[in-house]
Amino acid sequence: MATTTPDTTTRPSWWVLRAVVSTHLVAIFGQPVFAGVLLSGDYDGLGLHEAGANLTTSLGYVQLIVTIVIWTRLRRAWPFIATLALVLAETVQYFAGMAGALWLHLPLGVATIAALVVQFIDVWRRPLTREEPTHA
Ligand code: HEM
Repeated sequence: MATTTPDTTTRPSWWVLRAVVSTHLVAIFGQPVFAGVLLSGDYDGLGLHEAGANLTTSLGYVQLIVTIVIWTRLRRAWPFIATLALVLAETVQYFAGMAGALWLHLPLGVATIAALVVQFIDVWRRPLTREEPTHA
């Protein structure tokens, strides 16, 4: 009788997600720093914060594409759902910044960074393997 051992190898697409989430985290950590530079009276901080906002949101969309690949290839939907929530928050964050709505922009910025830290810990903590189909 043939026996099958579960495949516990971490997939290349999961390594790509780890790399993107890590880069995304570094980019978003710059945002409160640049905001602090601005609030200290140095207006170069606004240009840096705007560039950081473009980089951060772009990395969010790259992360979303990677999670779609993971969903289709490895049949794992939760990285996509978590990233979709993060990308929606970052998009609201972007427009709140543009509108100068700091009552929303500051708390949402802190929450978004916290959410990305949780994702970072999560993707590095566990190996991701292909979900085995269940047989009835
Ligand atoms: C805790 C984190 C953050 C803090 C404390 C913060 C703070 C600020 C401050 C003080 C401003 C200036 C608002 C004004 O001039 O009225 C600003 C603008 C802005 N922020 Fe943030 N921010 C944070 C995170 C983010 C993130 C993660 C994004 C992108 C997703 C972002 C995107 C923007 C944009 C697009 C602007 C408008 C820039 C412009 O007018 O050229 N911010 N933010």
